[in-house]
Amino acid sequence: MSDKLGDMRKTHTCCELGADDVGTEAVLMGWVQRRRDHGGVIFVDLRDREGITQVVFNPEVSRKIHEKAHAIRSEYVIGVRGKVEKRLQGMTNPKLKTGEIEVFVTELKILNTAETPPFMVEDNLDVSENIRLKFRHIDLRRPLLQKNIIKRHAAAASIRQYLNNLGFIDIETPVLTRSTPEGARDYLVPSRVNPSLFYALPQSPQIFKQLLMVSGFDRYYQIVKCFRDEDLRADRQPEFTQIDMEMSFVGEDDVMELTENMMVHLLRDAQDVDLKTPFQRLSYDDAVGRFGLDKPDIRFALELVDISDIVQDAGFKLFADVVKKGGIVKALNAKGCINFTRKEIDDLTEFVSVYRAKGLAWIKVREDSWQSPIAKFFTDDEKQALAKRIDMQPGDLVFFVADQPKITNEALGHLRNFLGKKLDMVNEDTFSFVWITRFPLLEFDENEKRNQALHHPFTAPLDEDCDLLEKDPLSVRSKAYDLVLNGSEIGGGSIRIHQRTLQERVFAALGMDRETYEEKFGFLLSALESGAPPHGGIAIGFDRLVMILCAQPSIRDVIAFPKTQKAACLLTNAPAQAVKAQLDELYLRIKNPGP
Ligand code: AMO
Ligand code: AMP
Repeated sequence: MSDKLGDMRKTHTCCELGADDVGTEAVLMGWVQRRRDHGGVIFVDLRDREGITQVVFNPEVSRKIHEKAHAIRSEYVIGVRGKVEKRLQGMTNPKLKTGEIEVFVTELKILNTAETPPFMVEDNLDVSENIRLKFRHIDLRRPLLQKNIIKRHAAAASIRQYLNNLGFIDIETPVLTRSTPEGARDYLVPSRVNPSLFYALPQSPQIFKQLLMVSGFDRYYQIVKCFRDEDLRADRQPEFTQIDMEMSFVGEDDVMELTENMMVHLLRDAQDVDLKTPFQRLSYDDAVGRFGLDKPDIRFALELVDISDIVQDAGFKLFADVVKKGGIVKALNAKGCINFTRKEIDDLTEFVSVYRAKGLAWIKVREDSWQSPIAKFFTDDEKQALAKRIDMQPGDLVFFVADQPKITNEALGHLRNFLGKKLDMVNEDTFSFVWITRFPLLEFDENEKRNQALHHPFTAPLDEDCDLLEKDPLSVRSKAYDLVLNGSEIGGGSIRIHQRTLQERVFAALGMDRETYEEKFGFLLSALESGAPPHGGIAIGFDRLVMILCAQPSIRDVIAFPKTQKAACLLTNAPAQAVKAQLDELYLRIKNPGP
């Protein structure tokens, strides 16, 4: 049985009343966090999104209401009218904003009952994430998630304000569209009125925002959902949100400066942090060379050291052979880590194998000797050269990977991040931004055996590298830039190709023949011929950015209704089967039903 709201209206949130309100009447509404019976007096912690207020049912105030309060259980929704009283001495709760007062109830409405919740609405829960996602509407009541979601809102509002003030126009772009090549698989939507044809959900609004520049809108932005069917991780969701921007008549520096100032504005608003500009810039080659990854965590120093030249003629055949076959050998000096156990080193070997490294050689530097499975293969001269290059001091533990450059860098880059955390080298309270620039335009895809765009096919090559497009396409660098925050890629963009001829040459370098690119991108090529201004832009991964602002380990913690690793929504049970009539209408037949 529940009461009607009637004309009862709340006067305050559950985080508002304090000593100044003592003696006044207030009406509060919210959820029952806890009910405690104390010798005839019932205390209820009443919760809403702002906080908690203690309300008191005292039989001396009203026997009838006190009687009714016995029915109250956790998560019931109630409304109370009552008098704000100062708590007795010794009963105040300094942890609560409202801890100095309590409300003595003179009217109680039980607005709704609630089943016993599957878990308590409190932080530091010990329940599986899947249970939380199944009951996400309850999970979202927890203070931590409420804080995250509200901060997400504040961040979006701050960004909008910043961009609106600079004359950016928020323009919506289609969700039912054609494939937009960002390197992931498309989500397809069958068209009922065009049997056998499919829309693709946008991987990003990339082509539309370029077309908006051709249309003369000059400055566009959108906080927009993008869809990518790819393997999910802690920082990847199948649908995620970008702060998507595009500008006309700009070069790389203009976009980067504007983005930096946007981050300064946001961090001041949302985090009360003053960032220094300009952000550091690293070329792709430097980033990968020194840190192993194109999203380096520069909060700590530990850098990779290339020793290929020293070992190429050395006695350790394994290393020498790798260099002869075009590979590289690099070292990572874990300073002072000589006491790592065999088991710890074995675990790290296992760790790098995930990145396809075939082994992890190591040297423990003792006062007068090296302890190592590979030390015996080196001459004294070679040892001296290695010690100098790697700055090996007694107490150090040095790791080595020898492989093709991509594998060596990736394996040691991830090992570097792992060691940085393990050895407490990372200051978790800093916001360390770095731009990565001068990416290769293309990369060779080993699986597909062809060149792919490293960003997307509309990224402009560096002017000085354009001549190499036909001769040596893989050596062409691009006008692309990524923004990295604390080792996480939070944004990427580029100056675009705005002339048909250059776009055709890049399509050709990607192995597309005229017929293919005309069919796929004819509309874009024709737009480029209709007076396209020079333009460029960027997209910031909003979920990742908010995840870092909220110091959360997963973007699922900053998305109201996220999907699981298997791209499922456990709350609604999406994806779900379609009924036969729907499939028939779409001319679709399921070949292998289930599982
Ligand atoms: P890009 O593909 O680099 O660029 O995407 C921009 C940023 O979006 C975030 N991101 C994701 N976040 C969560 N889950 C995902 N699955 C996911 N995929 C990407 C990343 C990334 O840096 N159209 C271009 C931008 C441009 O050129 O202007 C684009 O989409 O933080
Ligand atoms: P093995 O001769 O295979 O026992 O290897 C000797 C040492 O070299 C072991 O510590 C291996 O982990 C390491 N090792 C093997 N292959 C590689 C490689 N490609 N790069 C670095 N270390 C390796």
